[in-house]
Amino acid sequence: MTAVGIDAIEIRSGKLKLDLPNTFAPQKGDDPEKYTKGLGLTNSSFPDVYEDIVTMGANAAKRLMDRKGLEPDDIGRIDVATESAFDHSKPVSTYIAGCLEKVYDGDFVHANKGERKFACVAGTQAVDDAYNWIRAGRNRGRAAIVVATDTALYARGDPGEATQGAGAVAMLIDEEPSLVELSNDQGYGSKDETDFLKPNQQFPSVDGKRSMQVYLSRMREALEDYESVAGDIELDDFAYAPFHTPFPGMVRKAALLAYRHVIRDTEYEDDLAGEIGRQPREHEYDDREAYEAAIREYMDELKTTEQYRTWYDDAVEPTLGLSREVGNWYTSSVHVARVSALRDALERDRDFVGETLLVASYGSGAQAEIHAETVRAGWRSEIDALDIDDQLESRYDLTWEEYEDVHDIHEYDKDLDREIEEFTAPEGEFVFTGWGRMNERKYEYVE
Ligand code: HMG
Repeated sequence: MTAVGIDAIEIRSGKLKLDLPNTFAPQKGDDPEKYTKGLGLTNSSFPDVYEDIVTMGANAAKRLMDRKGLEPDDIGRIDVATESAFDHSKPVSTYIAGCLEKVYDGDFVHANKGERKFACVAGTQAVDDAYNWIRAGRNRGRAAIVVATDTALYARGDPGEATQGAGAVAMLIDEEPSLVELSNDQGYGSKDETDFLKPNQQFPSVDGKRSMQVYLSRMREALEDYESVAGDIELDDFAYAPFHTPFPGMVRKAALLAYRHVIRDTEYEDDLAGEIGRQPREHEYDDREAYEAAIREYMDELKTTEQYRTWYDDAVEPTLGLSREVGNWYTSSVHVARVSALRDALERDRDFVGETLLVASYGSGAQAEIHAETVRAGWRSEIDALDIDDQLESRYDLTWEEYEDVHDIHEYDKDLDREIEEFTAPEGEFVFTGWGRMNERKYEYVE
């Protein structure tokens, strides 16, 4: 069977940054380590005045097309995943295609375009849609572009404010991919939940603590479902495990839970038994409460063992590198985690072709999805071509007052009584220029 998967990937960060320990924490009267150690975040990316989900997505897609030498005729599908859309009818993919048509000779008239919504998991679902379209043989030899793009803003003062971020990931889905091949085995955990939602509002209503429990529950279900189709997971099967990363502290919790699940009834559990005992089994306890207390105690000890730490440092910690610097990018967060892992492999000059990643996506509301991907021969040059370090390095560092302005200007319904100047100068990129006759957003390409 022909391999189908991600041929190339591009990341576009918002061009501004908010320094959490040095700018955010003092304003909140918090210990900076709450952010750097507790949540695991150092900076968040924010969009400049002329940036939004369309410009970030279109700029990522343009770099992808240029780098791969593609013309619009090569693309049969443009799907956007976002939870920051500003229109209930016209999809962001039409805006992005419109931007791209300003700079290429051809057009996307015969490309299917759409928009996927299921909180953060929609990015992975859009990749699946493209995969299925190619597998079904409906692509006429063409590739798909999937763009996951969000301005993940919370209301000012919401506990989620520290986890904000803005950026886009563009992925080229094609046959015989250079980067990773997707497998058919998938596991799902999905339930009607009201932990994080945006009912006709820009900023989310969030029950933060509950959202963390819901994340863990759906992940466990997805893991069990994945094992029911792919067989029991062995610890050494996967080189890295990129998770959806709202903030690295969340992944720390999910990884520990996944580890406990995976080592149960294996030699790894036996090896640890002398040090911390065996995992509590429910039938050994009189009631659920006592069982849960025993589990918590076991987990607290498990996370300090060398065996767990070694696995975590090898397979999970390297997936968090970019996230610490950019915050939550919602639909693209797990795709950023995948790139962090591959960058780690590149830095360590790993012989990596044929290795496998276990990718764990999640979206509030709520659904988790887990699947495996196999690294392909072209991975090294694809990851080497990324310019994300330069982008992060050149971000404009906001003061607190400037951050307040930036938050205000990106609030769609805010009537601003003042002009806010751009903080950076656009160059060789798409920019937002204002609103049109029918309240549509307008864009231009700046040389
Ligand atoms: P909070 O309540 O302000 O923070 O907000 P906290 O008091 O729970 O502290 C956070 C961590 O820092 C804790 O670690 C503290 O102990 C630690 P933990 O105990 O949990 O391991 N801490 C410190 N560590 C070192 N030194 C210190 C210190 N002080 C505290 N001095 C909360 C946290 C997650 C609730 C908030 O950020 C929030 O509401 N975020 C938004 C919701 C969210 O991200 N949920 C995650 C799961 S849901 C999800 O991932 C989906 C999502 O991406 C949306 C989508 O799918 O579309 C959000």
